[in-house]
Amino acid sequence: MILAKEFNRSHFARDSDFTLSTNSAQPPTIVQFGANSPLELARASSLVVPYSSGVDLNCGCPQSWACAETLGAALMEKRELVRDMVIETRERLRQDGWAVGKEKDMDNPRGKSVSVKIRVHNDLRKTMDFITTVLGPEHNRHIDFLTIHPRTRSTPSSTPINAESLSILASTFGDKVPILVSGDVFTLNTLPFSSPLLTPTFSTKTTTDDDKRLSIPKLAGLMSARAILANPALYAGFDACPWEAVETFMSNVARCPLPFKLVLHHLSEMCAPGMGPVKTALLSKQERSAMMACGNMVDLIDFLDEKMPRGMGVLGSDGDGGGDGDGRMAGLRRDR
Ligand SMILES: Cc1cc2nc3c(=O)[nH]c(=O)nc-3n(C[C@H](O)[C@H](O)[C@H](O)COP(=O)(O)O)c2cc1C
Repeated sequence: MILAKEFNRSHFARDSDFTLSTNSAQPPTIVQFGANSPLELARASSLVVPYSSGVDLNCGCPQSWACAETLGAALMEKRELVRDMVIETRERLRQDGWAVGKEKDMDNPRGKSVSVKIRVHNDLRKTMDFITTVLGPEHNRHIDFLTIHPRTRSTPSSTPINAESLSILASTFGDKVPILVSGDVFTLNTLPFSSPLLTPTFSTKTTTDDDKRLSIPKLAGLMSARAILANPALYAGFDACPWEAVETFMSNVARCPLPFKLVLHHLSEMCAPGMGPVKTALLSKQERSAMMACGNMVDLIDFLDEKMPRGMGVLGSDGDGGGDGDGRMAGLRRDR
């Protein structure tokens, strides 16, 4: 979540909050804002869409500082304001010359999306009213898609998502707007609900008769936060982080450097036990402590080089997966 007001006013905020690689083709990227003013959201969106596929409004952040500023989850009590923000933003992007016709502009190179991410209320009727207001007219809805995090503002993330609320909302609104779910997407094989969306494209698990999970037919997509931090290969079907994900991450770091502390943070997540049932970790606790003690990138690459299995394919070497007894990280060093 980038704060729209600060983003509009400060080039420091823009530089530190939004950096995108220009080295290679980008996958679709949505920039999410925290905002409580139609003008601020529209302006900030106008600034980022030349570099992103769309913008999203955060109506789910439960942190007290955000709610005190009427940002994030506080907006779940301000449905007309949310509606006005997405209307003004869509109109601003249209005036800027972007294609904001939703499905009609899906393949348009100038196509941009405007979406909203929400939590649910204790009284689901309030969530229904919220969504109805924000969607607007059926023939010309105000948002491209809706992401639902089926927890209330005060539900801790240790409490499982409310799959029943999700099911009700998806069956009520799933034909009107594409719905994504956020929450407890830990592995594709252990989702807290079943959905035809997942088979056979994603999940390797086939639905069986003894599957007790709620079936949610009208889901359009999944969002993962905690689990994908620990296992960026989640959507490739991996139940735990493979070394290949660390290799890919380090190659990207070499090409598009990140602050060193951030690199360490991501590696500490990726090398620890993840969120899914498979609790194997790439590094033991002691090894992770040793990794965190690395003071610079060269030491870190040497450390990883020693820990990674040999013969995984060497960047800058044979690269055919056969290896040459020289770890991929050594290849990385040669790249620099
Ligand atoms: C480190 C971290 C940062 C997050 N930042 C955002 C954010 O900027 N915007 C947002 O809508 N949700 C954010 N979330 C919430 C997640 O999008 C998600 O709704 C929540 O963590 C539940 O999903 P999970 O079970 O996949 O973690 C964040 C969560 C974590 C753990």
